[in-house]
Amino acid sequence: MPRTGDTPEFGDSDFVVVANRLPIDIERLPDGTTAWKRSPGGLVTALEPLLRRRRGAWVGWPGAAAKPGEPAPDPIDLDDLRLQPVRLTAEDIAEYYEGFSNATLWPLYHDVIVKPVYQRQWWDRYVDVNRRFAEATAEAASAGATVWVQDYQLQLVPKMLRELRPDLTIGFFLHIPFPPVELFMQLPWRAEIVDGLLGADLVGFHLPGDAQNFLFLAKKLVGAPISRGTVGVRNRCGEVRLADRTVRVGAFPISIDSGSLDRTARARDIRRRAKQIRAELGHPRKILLGVDRLDYTKGIDVRLLAFNELLDEGRVKPDDTVLVQLATPSRERVESYQILRDEIEREVGHINGEYGEVGHPVVHYLHRPIPRNELLAFFVAADIMLVTPLRDGMNLVAKEYVACRSDLGGALVLSEFTGAAAELHQAYLVNPHDLDGVKDAIEAAAGQTPEEGRRRMRALRRQVLTHDVDRWARSFLDALAGTHAA
Ligand code: ADP
Ligand code: G6P
Repeated sequence: MPRTGDTPEFGDSDFVVVANRLPIDIERLPDGTTAWKRSPGGLVTALEPLLRRRRGAWVGWPGAAAKPGEPAPDPIDLDDLRLQPVRLTAEDIAEYYEGFSNATLWPLYHDVIVKPVYQRQWWDRYVDVNRRFAEATAEAASAGATVWVQDYQLQLVPKMLRELRPDLTIGFFLHIPFPPVELFMQLPWRAEIVDGLLGADLVGFHLPGDAQNFLFLAKKLVGAPISRGTVGVRNRCGEVRLADRTVRVGAFPISIDSGSLDRTARARDIRRRAKQIRAELGHPRKILLGVDRLDYTKGIDVRLLAFNELLDEGRVKPDDTVLVQLATPSRERVESYQILRDEIEREVGHINGEYGEVGHPVVHYLHRPIPRNELLAFFVAADIMLVTPLRDGMNLVAKEYVACRSDLGGALVLSEFTGAAAELHQAYLVNPHDLDGVKDAIEAAAGQTPEEGRRRMRALRRQVLTHDVDRWARSFLDALAGTHAA
């Protein structure tokens, strides 16, 4: 969108979000036409409502492979949102997205739950694709615009973009954990990644511990002087002083559009559907629920094992309890995800083989994305929400469940290894590596008195409803604006 006048090469968007994915996926149908659907994951859940309100532009990949030689798609105006597609070929997807992003960085940043794969070719492609994202962003942003780069797929974009457009104010936010130093040091391209992030004016993480890891690495790998904890400035964990400027580093725990979710979940049709779900499940005394992308970080196996042992020990009765696991497909061509799917489906089959009856399985497992309102009805219906990741930057599902429980019903079993656990103290907190502890927590949640449940849920809701995604965005963007005022 070139502008006429003094800055012809610049775009016309004052506020630009850059993320690997656009908020919608373009699907090519067999008849050659295209259709749209919402993209998976928490990043899109958090940012989409926010960006609509700010009338920004969103630069990202539309989710399908571009044909070789196909020209870059035109921007799409969707209500108040301008979508600027970046094309990725099948090779880009295999090496940049499935390879370096999701078979190298994702496991490395999630405590090496599976072994990261280090491949030079994937790295080269990561550099190449990051450069293309930086170029597309440089074209979309107006003179002096604010650009907000998102997540682990685009860690080189801040530096590349600064080189192209020094007039921009650049923020970066990481939606996943930032690993401890001894794990990050495995990465053959560790200095390049830290250097890439330092192109931003402000680098944000969910938790102060992530920010501290980053500050330490900036000092170690780039040799830059750092200072920690500027007194009196909220969210700020420290600064990295480069030769010509200072990079601020802070903690900004992300959230959801809690007010909107609360309102929607109160609607009569959602309540009606929740009752209907209970009836369809055979009116069990307790409904346990898991809602995740099918990812090995989420601890879906942990909750299935815990449930199986509770059944084995007679602490849970198969005729009055069901577990519903809604698992949206994810990264299906990455080997570790294929292995996980096989394991989960074997375990579901095993439990149902042991404890199900014809027409009455004890575990209901769906491997597909669930429409939003249907998902909310499941949250309203569930007596116990099982959120048991081995590691998770935040986990928005835990917050969504709480936002949907205006009736103060239900109980949240939550892994200590999620960012959400730092805020949701009144959940039944568990160590997912301690199976007995997980079983005890499920039993305690199932046996809580209504008063105890209400007390916990009231406190959880206070936190989630007062700390919504708008507040998160405002605190990040205010701090980003402050980097230039300082
Ligand atoms: P992640 O970003 O790692 O996927 P989060 O819990 O932070 O994890 O966010 C997941 C988002 O995806 C939430 O908004 C959640 O409601 C949605 N989601 C997860 N599983 C499903 C599913 N089976 N069907 C539809 N939406 C889902
Ligand atoms: C997490 C990541 C996001 C990612 C999402 C879905 O939330 O932090 O960056 O978009 O998972 O994963 P996918 O690989 O399908 O984009």
